[in-house]
Amino acid sequence: MLGIVFTSLIDMLEEKVSPEFADDVIVEAQLENDGAYTAIGYYPFEDMQRLLTVLVDKTGKSANELLYDFGIFLFGKLGSVHGDVLANTSGILDMLAHLDDDIHVQVKKLYPDADLPRFSVLSRTDTTMKLQYYSERELFALAEGLMDAAADFYGAKIQRETVKTDIPYTYEFNITVQ
Ligand code: HEM
Repeated sequence: MLGIVFTSLIDMLEEKVSPEFADDVIVEAQLENDGAYTAIGYYPFEDMQRLLTVLVDKTGKSANELLYDFGIFLFGKLGSVHGDVLANTSGILDMLAHLDDDIHVQVKKLYPDADLPRFSVLSRTDTTMKLQYYSERELFALAEGLMDAAADFYGAKIQRETVKTDIPYTYEFNITVQ
């Protein structure tokens, strides 16, 4: 998993709670590198799971609630570091439609070892979209936060429903723009 995901999570803990809280979480997670992440390095996904386990314990929130909140925060970070990748998109459904063949493709060029999920549009109208998400990491709650923050970025309001499919590691998002 790319370092920017870890540095963003730590930034969120520092900003929303406190630097001391972020330090405590890192210490309790017993990470091999003691939380010394750089944005362009790559680190085991297991570190993210460890950090989440400590956060669940400390906050009483579920891992998915935490991932959702983190998704909202992460979009802001990704958007400010990589705003250029959003330049060709004109609205929330348009950006989601091009996540896989444009935005994440540009990301992959910048970071060849990035472990990106796969998105495919199953159906689309002017105001609705059925978007399939596949990732062995099953970070659908992170995707939900990223989508809601992206909608906000375009000044749109969306309604969403997430459905786990029978296909392993695969979810469907039914999205309606209001
Ligand atoms: C500014 C636009 C975006 C940029 C630059 C961006 C870039 C990235 C990067 C760098 C990663 C980390 C890859 C790794 O860990 O190796 C990532 C992961 C991810 N992205 Fe995006 N992303 C953007 C928008 C979105 C949006 C709107 C969604 C919502 C559907 C999304 C869904 C995800 C998910 C769910 C992951 C976690 C990996 C996984 O699920 O397996 N991204 N993205």
